[in-house]
Amino acid sequence: MKIIIVGSGYVGLCTAVGFANLGHDVVCVDIDEEKVSKINNGEAPIYEDGLEKMLSQALQENKLHATTDIESIKETDFVFIAVGTPSKDSGAIDLKYIESASADIANFIKDKNYCTVVVKSTVLPETTEKIVIPILEKSGKKAGRDFGVCVNPEFLREGKALEDFFSPDRIVIGELDRKSGDLLEKLYSNFKAPMMRTNLKTAELIKYASNAFLATKITFINEIGNMCKNLGIDVYDVAEGMGMDKRISTHFLQAGIGFGGSCFRKDVEALLAKSKELHSESKILNTVLDINKDQPLKIVNLLKKKLPNLDGKTIAVLGLAFKEGTDDIRDAPSIIIISELLKHNCKINSYDPKASTNMRKLYPDINYCSSVSDALSCSDACLILTGWDEFKRLSDKDFNVMNSKIIIEGRRVLDKSKVSGAEGVCW
Ligand code: UDX
Repeated sequence: MKIIIVGSGYVGLCTAVGFANLGHDVVCVDIDEEKVSKINNGEAPIYEDGLEKMLSQALQENKLHATTDIESIKETDFVFIAVGTPSKDSGAIDLKYIESASADIANFIKDKNYCTVVVKSTVLPETTEKIVIPILEKSGKKAGRDFGVCVNPEFLREGKALEDFFSPDRIVIGELDRKSGDLLEKLYSNFKAPMMRTNLKTAELIKYASNAFLATKITFINEIGNMCKNLGIDVYDVAEGMGMDKRISTHFLQAGIGFGGSCFRKDVEALLAKSKELHSESKILNTVLDINKDQPLKIVNLLKKKLPNLDGKTIAVLGLAFKEGTDDIRDAPSIIIISELLKHNCKINSYDPKASTNMRKLYPDINYCSSVSDALSCSDACLILTGWDEFKRLSDKDFNVMNSKIIIEGRRVLDKSKVSGAEGVCW
């Protein structure tokens, strides 16, 4: 099949490389010339395990190329919209990229044969019907007759995006009409995952409700963890016992310093804004955002208990990205934590295998060490914020280079049998 992917961020590029790897002919369209040339040179503009290798293979096999000009493409079977949907200051969704992509696609389909436009970007219920389709029909063509329309939400986790592309838990197809849905179902026919066919707005809401639920589940265990901290209970033991109930499962029950990333807070805020619009403001989503905003500070408060005078102290911060496996620092708890430590005039020795370059743009004046041992050397305390494998392998001897062995985990990372004396934000 011929596939155009408009938007070459995490979702667009991983989806493009995934489809190319399956033998489809894929064109990535993006407004960012630098990103387009990087992709055509086999250089992935983002870090994602396995992406660069698979991108190079797709380029070698002539299955993928990138362009800034959609008009340079002669024909296609599908046009996926995978552009960002950032938040406005109010928390409401900003559709500027969706609208401009839809306008470009309207121009493109004007003189083309039938193709199916697929909204993969995360958009609120009714966006495709009320915003995207009217713009597409400015082409003079009729949706559902001259071109198809589907909503096909992505459920890709950063750091595991290719794994989630090839082995999704489910494929959700929201369709304007049966023909559109049938064509998209055929595109996914080689996937083993269960398929769900529904209407456009239900598919849009499935995405938001899924992310909001995952954020709520994490926040729930963080609240239980905050209670555990005052009870001398290890919340990870509680989560283990809870997770033995298959209705609960252990997934997304790892307590810590709160969720980050480009999706959860944005999607929860957008859904909350929608609930206000519908005059049924969500109390749960409000609470999730409130709790998550304060959670990163728990680790600084615990540090202050152990090191009352932080002024001038050297703090090692291991893990800067919003989680392990990625270089993405968007909404990372580390940003709040570093800001709080700087307010107390701490010297920060940071280390992250991938995210230092991105964090340096935000905090140019902290130290970016090239190894864990450099960061720990002569430090007065150590905060471990993400679960990179190299942090999991640390043992007591690694921490012996510290001035004082104060180790606080923002996430359960260390092996208790190898490191003594560490304490967790919720254990
Ligand atoms: C998420 C959804 O998982 C994915 O389905 C959706 O498509 C995009 O948003 P992502 O943001 O990449 O994916 O990361 P995820 O692995 O979900 O973690 C999000 C945040 O929650 C991270 O900060 C992570 O550290 C945190 N988290 C996750 C916890 O604090 N506890 C957990 O148990 C799991």
